[in-house]
Amino acid sequence: MKKEYEMSRRGFLKTAAAVGAALTIQPTINKVKAANAALNGQSMSPVEKDGVQCRTLGAGNAVFEVSALGFGVMGMNYNRSQSPDKKECIRIIHEAVDRGVTLFDTAIIYGPLHNELLAGEALEPYKGRVNVTTKFGHEVINGKGTGRQDSSPATVRRYCEESLKRLRIDSIPLFYQHRFDPNVPIEEVASTIGDLIKEGKVQRWGLCEVSVDTIRRAHAVQPLTAIQSEYHLMHRLVEENGVLDVCRQLGIGFVPYSPINRGFLGGCINEYTVFDTNNDNRHTLPRFQPEAIRANTRIVNVLQQFGRTRGMTSAQVALGWLLQKEPWIVPIPGTTKLSHLDENLHTLSFNVSPGEWKELEDAVAAVRVVGERYNAEQQKQVGH
Ligand SMILES: NC(=O)c1ccc[n+]([C@@H]2O[C@H](COP(=O)([O-])OP(=O)(O)OC[C@H]3O[C@@H](n4cnc5c(N)ncnc54)[C@H](OP(=O)(O)O)[C@@H]3O)[C@@H](O)[C@H]2O)c1
Repeated sequence: MKKEYEMSRRGFLKTAAAVGAALTIQPTINKVKAANAALNGQSMSPVEKDGVQCRTLGAGNAVFEVSALGFGVMGMNYNRSQSPDKKECIRIIHEAVDRGVTLFDTAIIYGPLHNELLAGEALEPYKGRVNVTTKFGHEVINGKGTGRQDSSPATVRRYCEESLKRLRIDSIPLFYQHRFDPNVPIEEVASTIGDLIKEGKVQRWGLCEVSVDTIRRAHAVQPLTAIQSEYHLMHRLVEENGVLDVCRQLGIGFVPYSPINRGFLGGCINEYTVFDTNNDNRHTLPRFQPEAIRANTRIVNVLQQFGRTRGMTSAQVALGWLLQKEPWIVPIPGTTKLSHLDENLHTLSFNVSPGEWKELEDAVAAVRVVGERYNAEQQKQVGH
């Protein structure tokens, strides 16, 4: 372990090999290339640029080069119970930048507004060097979410202007529609974003939790850079509903959100865990009820067992599995702890063969997941 911490501060993303058999402390770039080629069976990716491991989301004019692992800012002050004070949050975000992370993710609805404000303040010193992605769609009035969707052109434009101010930037690197709006055809949303791109206020766009049909229709009007939907070892819907296939076919990147299943796959949550009912949505989710947690702990145990002989934690196993799936997948784990940030980024240093990942996948698939991921209300908003 000591050796690991002797690595330079930027070392995690800088010198790490791809997800590959034994822990390699300082792999050469050739090893990175070889590991990736073996891993993906295609041209190497992530690549190293300026010493930082990168991945590419999207293609053509929609291309977006980012660090192989991003950082989800949401949980620093919204929906994940623990909120360190602002100074500490900013320190952790700066540590992430220092370690080579160039992709930070927030949304208007997180807080609402407070999370964008935090990201804006924390990342201002790095303007032009890192990217913050944000999301419109959930209606927010006077700083409160109404539970409705509003992706009408006038609102998207207004939200864009307001996000630019809170994020302290001149152009949003990637603007996602957070949830589908049944009252506004996706073509109209795409065309509004197209205008914002022409005006330089937005650089790229993406969609969250949508169907293949919506992706195709949107992409035909304004090419998409990324789809951001839930994806991890306990929720593999995008493999079954055609979303990953259409991303592959159209050259669209994929950003798995909640890649550690909201912390569950990190192994620090058990049936006695108390969630802050004022600032954590997990107590409303069927999968986070005590009985479901008790049953699903068997899945965490599979990850822990897999990791034990490879020197990996269950969080690293969860992230590594996602990273080896496709070279155009960029997970965005969130954390309020420097130790977890280091642990998560260190995932990029492991070397596990495709056959071993398949063994893990089969072992996890043999355990039934108990509880739905969303409650009925949230479920209505996805898959359109
Ligand atoms: N598009 C959408 O609809 C959508 C929905 C949800 C989330 N998101 C995005 O996805 C990002 C991440 O999602 P998320 O926060 O729901 O889930 P996540 O990244 O899977 O999990 C975050 C939780 O895991 C814990 N954690 C992180 N690293 C850990 C480690 N190494 N070991 C043990 N626990 C660890 C964190 O607690 P500590 O603070 O203790 O580390 C935190 O509570 C968000 O920030 C947001 O940007 C998007």
